[in-house]
Amino acid sequence: MLGAYNDLYARWQADPEAFWADAAKAIDWFEPPAAILDDSAKPLYRWFPGGSVNTAWNCLDRHVEAGRGEQDALIYDSPVTGTKTRFTYRELRDKVAELAGALAAKGVVKGDRVLVYMPMVPEALFAMLACARLGAIHSVVFGGFAAKELATRINDAKPKAIVSASCGVEPGRTVAYKPLLDEAIELASFKPDFTLILQRPMLAASLVPGRDFDWAEAVRGAAPADCVPVASTDPLYVLYTSGTTGVPKGVVRDNAGHMVALAWSMKNIYGVAPGEVFWAASDVGWVVGHSYITYGPLLIGATTILYEGKPVGTPDAGAFWRVIEEYGCKVQFCAPTAFRAIKKEDPDGKLLEKYDISGLRTLFLAGERADPDTVQWAERMVKVPVIDHWWQTESGWPMAANLVGVELLPVKYGSPTRAVPGYDIRVLDNEHNEVEAGEIGSIVVKLPLAPGALPTLWQNDDGYIRSYLSDFPGYYKTGDAGYIDEDGYLFVMSRTDDIINVAGHRLSTGGMEEVLAYHPDVAECAVIGAADALKGQVPLGFVVLKAGVNRPEAEIEKELVKLVRDKIGPVAAFKTVTVVKRLPKTRSGKILRGTMRKIADGEKWSMPATIDDPVILDEITDSLRSVGYAKDSAA
Ligand code: COA
Ligand code: AMP
Repeated sequence: MLGAYNDLYARWQADPEAFWADAAKAIDWFEPPAAILDDSAKPLYRWFPGGSVNTAWNCLDRHVEAGRGEQDALIYDSPVTGTKTRFTYRELRDKVAELAGALAAKGVVKGDRVLVYMPMVPEALFAMLACARLGAIHSVVFGGFAAKELATRINDAKPKAIVSASCGVEPGRTVAYKPLLDEAIELASFKPDFTLILQRPMLAASLVPGRDFDWAEAVRGAAPADCVPVASTDPLYVLYTSGTTGVPKGVVRDNAGHMVALAWSMKNIYGVAPGEVFWAASDVGWVVGHSYITYGPLLIGATTILYEGKPVGTPDAGAFWRVIEEYGCKVQFCAPTAFRAIKKEDPDGKLLEKYDISGLRTLFLAGERADPDTVQWAERMVKVPVIDHWWQTESGWPMAANLVGVELLPVKYGSPTRAVPGYDIRVLDNEHNEVEAGEIGSIVVKLPLAPGALPTLWQNDDGYIRSYLSDFPGYYKTGDAGYIDEDGYLFVMSRTDDIINVAGHRLSTGGMEEVLAYHPDVAECAVIGAADALKGQVPLGFVVLKAGVNRPEAEIEKELVKLVRDKIGPVAAFKTVTVVKRLPKTRSGKILRGTMRKIADGEKWSMPATIDDPVILDEITDSLRSVGYAKDSAA
């Protein structure tokens, strides 16, 4: 007999369009779709063509009309500022309508882009939802990125407006956002018409007359804006994510497919019901923040928590337990790195004794590989199922998971369990053949992708096809490598490109190399991601200096660390770089980054047959040892 998961997956496979047509009933349509899937422009697909919707309506207004007006929609808990606030669905709708009115009064209309560069404050959600209300397309940029990264995104998205705040608050320091924004606008070749700046009490930003407007003044007395109907396939947002170069990719999310998928996932994957409290401890600047702080919970009428703090140090490693208890959180979602941080500070869970987290039903982990140690430790702490699940900015919602709302399958440590309906996941070799169970290969997804997954890159269909759809015709390339075992469980092992995952944050080592190469003393460089007990991975840089440079190496190394922080941002966590005489290369000149990484991590490695000069690897090993890596490395 089929289990509920198998049954559901088979039902989707048998008739995907009927499956999603049924799921689409969970949202309100101004106009129902003319078809479920448009596959007339393969390999590009569009879900629910011909329909008309509004995402803010579905997240807010319809719940107020259905009697949820007095229920909490958003709980803001900010240990870094000592603030706690709640917004009911009615209050949140009114705040969003007011801000949308202010943006509309300044000329923002359907289809315009609005860049959102905000810390974890309620206004960040107001801004996203206000854009959705107007049919404008938001592009949220994570606060830990530097001005240059912001400028790249301004140039690509060409926003009419930028909404930002005077500062973010990191433990122990205030991060002034406005100077970064000013510098980004200066650097960018495209200029926005205006900015709206939220003045936070910790730091006042100076405003450029005629360009910068004070948020509070702009919304005061603004006429609330109504929801503007948009086409199902119109973009709701563009979210930039690291690609293989320093140029980020603008992942597009449509309106209808996104809503259908997220609403479906809240019930079937996360097992959350309307009215329950759901907490994704991420940042609105990442896809997790988009899907599961803002849109997912609100789409189904749940309560979402916006937490401006860290798992440790704000004030201690009991912070997560406190939030779970205080708000009766039923389901939590965070990156494994957060639990590694808690485990490091409080390995025996002493702080947990102070709190009652018995209301918690499930803990979900994603964003990076969930190592079995961390999962098992988390299980001992929370005493409820700990579910690893796998997805990426591009998919927008889980591609592999244990569908708690359907059937809890046995957990296999190290695996995010099985494919989610909507995703036909395969593992292929370089000749595009499917490998045997248990064999490692490229993880791909058969087209079309599920609703909610990216239909394309922002104004760049060719780039989308080139980057994701060309290597394995008929499939979407995830960029991850791994295997599927004989029970159909997926194991995600590594990336096939230069992307690394630092504390759940996705970064490109290629982008860091571009920054290092910029230094006048650097002739050549390489950046690898080395294993890190807390952050999963951290970047390590190697530079070869130009002939004739004889300044102290330590001085240059310090400048390089600062350069990456200034150009990419503190989030890169780029702290270690060493000067080496030469980089190991193949005879054709390709830098052997993979071998360097294995040496750094103390993994067994073999001398590449094509290596130009094997002695260089000894030099690299010595250099890695000098900075605390390559401890047990042996060829
Ligand atoms: N604005 C400005 N700076 C920021 C920032 C923001 N929004 N977010 C992070 N930074 C800075 C940090 O202050 C830190 O700066 P530092 O080098 O001066 O210390 C740097 O960027 C690195 O930040 P982070 O990776 O968060 O490391 P951390 O040492 O401050 O904290 C953890 C470590 C594990 C506690 C933290 O990474 C964490 O909570 N991770 C969860 C990850 C997550 O939510 N991922 C989202 C995907 S689900
Ligand atoms: P992002 O786009 O920032 O969400 O990062 C997506 C990438 O993070 C994926 O392509 C994987 O490399 C990695 N990742 C996310 N979740 C998992 C997981 N559960 N297990 C292993 N890797 C993961």
